[in-house]
Amino acid sequence: MAAQGALMTPLLKVDNLAVSFTTEAGSFRVVDDVSFSVTAGQTLGLVGESGCGKSVTALSLLGLLPKPAGRVVGGRALFQGQDLLALSPEQRYRIRGNKIAMIFQEPMTALNPVHSVGRQLMEVYELHRPELGKRERRALAAEMLRQVGIPEPEARLGSYPHQLSGGMRQRVMIAMALACEPDLLICDEPSTALDVTIQAQILHLIRELQQKTGMAVIFITHDLGVVAQVCDQVLVMYAGRSAEQAGVFDIFERPLHPYTQGLLSAIPRLERASKTILPTIKGQVPSIEEQVAGCRFANRCPHATDRCRRQPEAELAVVGHSVWCHHWREWG
Ligand SMILES: Nc1ncnc2c1ncn2[C@@H]1O[C@H](COP(=O)(O)OP(=O)(O)O)[C@@H](O)[C@H]1O
Ligand SMILES: [Mg+2]
Repeated sequence: MAAQGALMTPLLKVDNLAVSFTTEAGSFRVVDDVSFSVTAGQTLGLVGESGCGKSVTALSLLGLLPKPAGRVVGGRALFQGQDLLALSPEQRYRIRGNKIAMIFQEPMTALNPVHSVGRQLMEVYELHRPELGKRERRALAAEMLRQVGIPEPEARLGSYPHQLSGGMRQRVMIAMALACEPDLLICDEPSTALDVTIQAQILHLIRELQQKTGMAVIFITHDLGVVAQVCDQVLVMYAGRSAEQAGVFDIFERPLHPYTQGLLSAIPRLERASKTILPTIKGQVPSIEEQVAGCRFANRCPHATDRCRRQPEAELAVVGHSVWCHHWREWG
């Protein structure tokens, strides 16, 4: 039992994360009281419509919020005994791209424009596999490019980022993130710039590495098909807050939050596992400047009552399944 308990200890445990942005109009919470954890070897999906706070959540873990506008204003994120939200820049530098790697939505920002792809990839191996000689590192770099679907990888080692298409740059970024065999990989909508075949190949590669090294993954996506394929746990976010959290099976088969139900209901069952981009639900996400007294989903919720409009939704949990909704029992 003790060994099992140790296995279940989360690699990352985020408690009550709160992030605010200051704009000309004032200061606003864009992530509010969000908690989740990820265990080694598992994949957590962060799901929700655009603007609901998924990227901000990921960036805050790595200390990459745009300064000075964005600021962590509450919570903690325990990773291997350290609070990621309270690290010095130096400690953070040591963890980033080493123990934690992130694949961004926009790949250009993370590649150095003045160095060749091969040099950048080989630098990763210099850091992580110092025992290897230059020739071996070069071979590994080429092999990694091949694995992420880059044709003629040997020749591509000499290319500079601007000589590659957006999709190719994204693949190089993924190669660099995977080359360092991180304990935690955060993928922020990595597939938006990739075609379907490459996407499948990369998801496969991530899963292989996960099985080999026990890497934990946080997978941010609006593609429910990808969620069904790769995630073990799912956190559905709405307007900066948690809406529902459960194992992937429960999210698809027994969604309790009207928002999750809305996301799923527009998808014909047979298609759930294939082509399933988040459908649109009528109405709009409240803007961050809007003060909402009650549940933030109330203005779009088919079941909302006066209580929902007055009182913030509280977390209700059954075993392994949490839902932030006053009324879920009535239709869950
Ligand atoms: N640099 C910024 N300045 C002000 N607000 C921002 C900034 N970046 C993000 N936001 C706001 O934070 C909220 C969450 O954004 P984000 O995490 O990017 O959403 P998602 O990744 O779920 O699409 C949005 O309402 C967005 O307008
Ligand atoms: Mg985003």
